Amino acid sequence: MRTSQHAITSVVALVGFIGCSGAEDSNGTGQTSAAEPTYYKDIAPLVNAECAACHQPGGIGKFSLANAAVAAKMAPAMAAATEARTMPPMPVDNDGSCNTFENARWLSDEQIALFQRWAKAGAPLGDPADAPPPTEGDGPELFGELVEFDLGVDYTPHPSGAEPDDYRCFVVDPGVGAEAFITGYDIQPGDARIVHHVLLFMLQDDQAEADALALDANDEGAGYSCFGGAGVDASIVGIWAPGSGATVFPAGTGLRYAAGRKLIIQMHYNVPATGGPFTDRSKMKFQLSKDPGLQPAFFLPTGTADISLPPGQAHTEANGDMPLSVLAQQWLPEFKGIRSWGVLPHMHTAGRTLRSAAKTQGTEQCLVDVDRWNFHWQNLWWNETPLDLGADSTISTTCAYDTRGRTGMTTFGEGTGDEMCVNILYATPL
Ligand code: HEC
Repeated sequence: MRTSQHAITSVVALVGFIGCSGAEDSNGTGQTSAAEPTYYKDIAPLVNAECAACHQPGGIGKFSLANAAVAAKMAPAMAAATEARTMPPMPVDNDGSCNTFENARWLSDEQIALFQRWAKAGAPLGDPADAPPPTEGDGPELFGELVEFDLGVDYTPHPSGAEPDDYRCFVVDPGVGAEAFITGYDIQPGDARIVHHVLLFMLQDDQAEADALALDANDEGAGYSCFGGAGVDASIVGIWAPGSGATVFPAGTGLRYAAGRKLIIQMHYNVPATGGPFTDRSKMKFQLSKDPGLQPAFFLPTGTADISLPPGQAHTEANGDMPLSVLAQQWLPEFKGIRSWGVLPHMHTAGRTLRSAAKTQGTEQCLVDVDRWNFHWQNLWWNETPLDLGADSTISTTCAYDTRGRTGMTTFGEGTGDEMCVNILYATPL
């Protein structure tokens, strides 16, 4: 006992000494010194927490960073991608200058520096005994009454032309038998290598359902081709992208779902040129509540449809001011404003930045600042603190686009060549 106690004391002293003198690895064991990060000790815990949701075998991230040898080879690319904040993917700024988000994928400056120090040191692996235990997903889990449904078919996406993307809408009956609130949902991709994002839309009424079925009947194969929206009158009830896990709506709130109503599932497939064929049958779950005391929430679209973008511009903008009272007419005459719980910014492929703020006389509350839009990463970002917006507020939205690839005017619409400037709020009435 005394001996090992003594040994520990001398190791501590030695480490202290190395630290003070700034000496390089000199303990003669081939092990790296304490100052030099290693994969197993320093990088693996970070990868588990921030990267492995996508960079695991069979994941959308294409290579597994849970594999030490792969990670070591990728070290310079990891350092570059994290410094540029393109990885982990989060198109929304979370540095505190405009709102902050509970489910942010945002590395601290120290974490970014750690990736750099590791790459610079030659990506040493270190001692496998230092490896962290595998982490379970730490996201929310669904509870209570669940209904499960799926795409309804085994679907093999078939992108057309040179683009790797296939956007497909499926009309599905989720089996919500009675009037209920959706209080959460989860989506399990059938083939995680190709499912890039999923949107769920509740059809508005019988007419919308008939319209959707007609689109389906007129398009060869299962479902119908669609982009951006569902192509019919429908309101969004869920969005999923790899790494987002299950979504549970803020406690005490839920989206009203009409009994027996069908749903549109919009799948965005991104199909690698090699390694196929890929077949998907993604599975979904709704978490339901029949508690009449829940506050009905809405996905409230804000932004502007006034989009008219000349071609050939590196930077061209759309702007819109919307008085909240107009947006929230469904709650009049007693409309006192809304509590905004989260944001879902949306543009198409020419979009570059989007900023949205709520203004009243003299004050501004910043809702979201998308400083690196990427159509592939559509997510719902939950405010760390819900924001109350009074009935007299105006929501100002500015979107910027790069139209250098375009030959004609780009206007508002649901097509791949059209654009949008939308920030959807998850909101409850005040
Ligand atoms: C939400 C999913 C997701 C997470 C989380 C994620 N990645 Fe990625 N990553 C991808 C995908 C998908 C690609 C392939 C390129 C693409 O489609 O954008 C990629 C590509 C990369 C690349 C290739 C070069 C590049 O920039 O495209 C590197 C390096 C990388 N990721 C590092 C990381 C690191 C390091 C983390 C954690 C700190 C991380 N990623 C977290 C999905 C993710």
